[in-house]
Amino acid sequence: MASSMKTLVDDDSRYQKSFELFLESSTEHQCMQDFIHHVLPDILASVGNGKSHLNVIGVGSGAGEIDLEILSQLRLKHPGVTVDNEVVEPSSQQIQSYRALVSRKPDLDWIKFTWNQMTASEFEEQWKEKKTTKKADFVHMIQMLYYVKDPGATISFFQSLLNKSGKLLIILVSGEGGWAKLWKAYKDQLCISDISQCVTAGDIRGFLDAKRLSYRSFQLPSQMDITECFTKGDEKGELLLDFLTEVQDFSKTAPPRAESGCPAAPAPPGLQRGVCRQSHLQQQAGGAAC
Ligand SMILES: C[S@@+](CC[C@H](N)C(=O)[O-])C[C@H]1O[C@@H](n2cnc3c(N)ncnc32)[C@H](O)[C@@H]1O
Repeated sequence: MASSMKTLVDDDSRYQKSFELFLESSTEHQCMQDFIHHVLPDILASVGNGKSHLNVIGVGSGAGEIDLEILSQLRLKHPGVTVDNEVVEPSSQQIQSYRALVSRKPDLDWIKFTWNQMTASEFEEQWKEKKTTKKADFVHMIQMLYYVKDPGATISFFQSLLNKSGKLLIILVSGEGGWAKLWKAYKDQLCISDISQCVTAGDIRGFLDAKRLSYRSFQLPSQMDITECFTKGDEKGELLLDFLTEVQDFSKTAPPRAESGCPAAPAPPGLQRGVCRQSHLQQQAGGAAC
């Protein structure tokens, strides 16, 4: 990445604003809800070996909407169960929103929440320092592995915490969707930082195959409306463009475009070809449970 370009996730407030707009402009959470209601229940049914108490870890939980949906499906499959739910989320704003959401929901007294305002690697350090021996029945990392330095090591650590019948759920952009195409074409311009920003579900499958870990893979088709990205100076369009590229103030800090065609997105030329000339970006989030 050119020196003037900074990674979006380093500015938490802008990142969260962009993410919120992305959720409004895409079918991201809707496709996850479909997956949670129609596919995940059978996977959740297989965890826990009939125990009446389950341990769950959510890594990069955001504001918790998806986590609470998973927990309610878990309870439907294991009526009467109680749950210890470790929330690992570095953004104080997101943890606050998650806590507020919990306080607005009645009947969650079967869940004990432990709020870990920290990154996945800080959580790992803390777990090892405390020599914690607790095992997990279900761990999920939903759209967060882009923000760690070593996704393989992160997966290995959390997988090592699983009970025998435990499951790990990973959701990331697919290796075949619009996002992956953008990253493949412009990796050098967009994905230069010490985090794994451009990792896809395809990379994770490669990692799991190399480790001979068994897993199942699912497609969660979703779309994003990028119309606003065409309107020069449009605040929403600029924030969406930041989320697409993972760059702070992309339109102001990207190198000048080499060709015309996308008024609101002066950028590496192919970005105009790859993204801005479509008004919808296709994405297939790939989920893997192992
Ligand atoms: C794209 S959001 C996904 C949030 C939520 N899982 C969802 O799908 O709605 C990514 C989340 O990962 C969090 N995050 C960023 N860096 C992280 C890290 N190193 N470890 C754990 N979480 C991280 C962000 O704060 C953000 O809440």
